[in-house]
Amino acid sequence: MTTEPFDSCTSFSVTGLPTLAYDHLQDPDEAHRAIADARRRAPIAIGPHGPEVLSYELVRRVLRDPRFSTAAGLGLDVQGITSGPLWDRATQNILGLDGAEHHRLRRLVSHAFAPRGAERLRELIVGTIDSLVEPLTRVGHCDIVADLVRGYPTPIICALLGAPPQDWQLFSAWTDEITKLFDWNLANDGPAVLAAWQDLDAYLADMVEQRRHNLSDDLISDLIRAEDGCDRLTHGELLMLAAALLVAGTDTTRNQLAAAVHALCDHPEQWALLARRPELAPNAVQEVMRYYPVVLATMRRAVEDVNLDGVVIPAGTLVIANTAAANRDPAIYADPHRLDITRDGQPAILTFGGGVHYCLGSHLARIELAEALRIIAQRMPDPRRRAPARWHAMSGITGPAELAIEFTPGH
Ligand code: HEM
Repeated sequence: MTTEPFDSCTSFSVTGLPTLAYDHLQDPDEAHRAIADARRRAPIAIGPHGPEVLSYELVRRVLRDPRFSTAAGLGLDVQGITSGPLWDRATQNILGLDGAEHHRLRRLVSHAFAPRGAERLRELIVGTIDSLVEPLTRVGHCDIVADLVRGYPTPIICALLGAPPQDWQLFSAWTDEITKLFDWNLANDGPAVLAAWQDLDAYLADMVEQRRHNLSDDLISDLIRAEDGCDRLTHGELLMLAAALLVAGTDTTRNQLAAAVHALCDHPEQWALLARRPELAPNAVQEVMRYYPVVLATMRRAVEDVNLDGVVIPAGTLVIANTAAANRDPAIYADPHRLDITRDGQPAILTFGGGVHYCLGSHLARIELAEALRIIAQRMPDPRRRAPARWHAMSGITGPAELAIEFTPGH
C-alpha cells in the first residue's frame, strides 16, 4: 500500500475566503454555527481538504457539472493511499467511477433499485423496528444507539441482498470495519478495513455463485438478471455493487435514524405532532435529513479549471460539496435553523447528493426512516434526553455515538 500523502489543496489559495475546520466541533449545532458563519462571509470557504462550496446553488451546480468528476478511489489519495488492494477496490467502487463506465453501471442497476424493490421490504422493515422497540416500551428508557439503531438496517440490507437473516451480525461486523474508510485514519485502520472487505467479498462470491443456479426475487438475483441489450454485469461488478450497498446503506441509515431521534427529542412538540399525525412521517424524514444530515458533504475533483462565482478552481483540486450547508441556505429555506416537519413545497434536500451519483438507496432509506420514526414517535411518548449526547466526529459519517433517553412506558 503506497502512503505518499496527496496534497489536495496546496495549489488552491484565495485570500479573503473564510476557513472551516471540523476537528474541534463536538456536535452538529456547533458545526452548523461554524458553517453558517462562513457562509455569511462567502459562498466558498477553505476547509481542511480543499475549497468547500456552501450555498445551495453552488453545491447543486458542482454536483451536476461534468467538469467535476468524483474523487477517484473514494478520496483515499487524500489519506495517502494511491495503490495496493484497498486502492484497487476503492477505484472500482461505483461512487468512484465516472463518465461512460459509471453511466453503463447505473443503466444496468437502475431497475433493481427502483421504488418497487424498496417497497417490497416495507413489511420486514415494520416488523424489524417493532421488535426492537417493543422491549424498550416496557422499561421507558434506552440508549437509542446501542439498544435500537445498531440492530436496525443490517437485517434489512441482508434481506435486500438475499442473505440469510441469521448472518446479519457478520455483515454488521464487516460493515463496521469497512466504513472506517471514511474516518480519515487509514494509516491505522487500513489493514483491518482490507481484511473485512476480503472476507465480505468471499462471502458474496459464494452467494452469487449459488444464486446463478437458483434465481429468486432478491437484489442479487435482480442484478444477475440485469441486462441492457447484450450487456450484463460482470462477476466483479456484482460483488462490488453488493458490497457498496452494505457500506453505503448501513452506517448512513442507522446514524441518520439516531440523529433524527436526537433532533425530535429536542423538539418534543414535533415528536408529539408526528405521533398524532403519522402520515407526516415521510415529511419528517425530509426535514430531519435537512436539519441534522449525517453525511455533511460529498467530494468532487475539478477536471479542468472552473470559475465558480469569480473564484477559479484549478484543475485537479479536490472540491467539497458541503450539502449540510446547502440544506440550511437561507436563500432557499425560510428560517433554516428551525426544525419543522410540516415544511412543504421546497427544493429537494441535498443529503442524498445530486447529479449522476445521486444515492441509489434513497427510496429504501426513506422507507426505513419513515417507518422507524412513525413507530418510535407513537410508542415512546414524552421523550427526554437523560444526558448530553456524544457525537462522532463531524467529518466522515457522523451521528450520535450515545443517546440516552427516557419516555413514558406502556405504549
Ligand atoms: C440515510 C441514509 C443514506 C444517506 C444519507 C446516503 C447518502 C448518500 C450520498 C451523499 C451519496 C453520494 C452522492 C453524490 O456523491 O452525489 C450516496 C450514494 C450512494 N448510496 Fe446512499 N445514502 C443513504 C442510504 C443508502 C442506502 C440504504 C443504500 C443502499 C441500499 C445506498 C446506496 C448508495 C449507493 C450504491 C451510492 C452510489 C451511487 C453512485 O455512485 O452512482 N445509500 N448516498
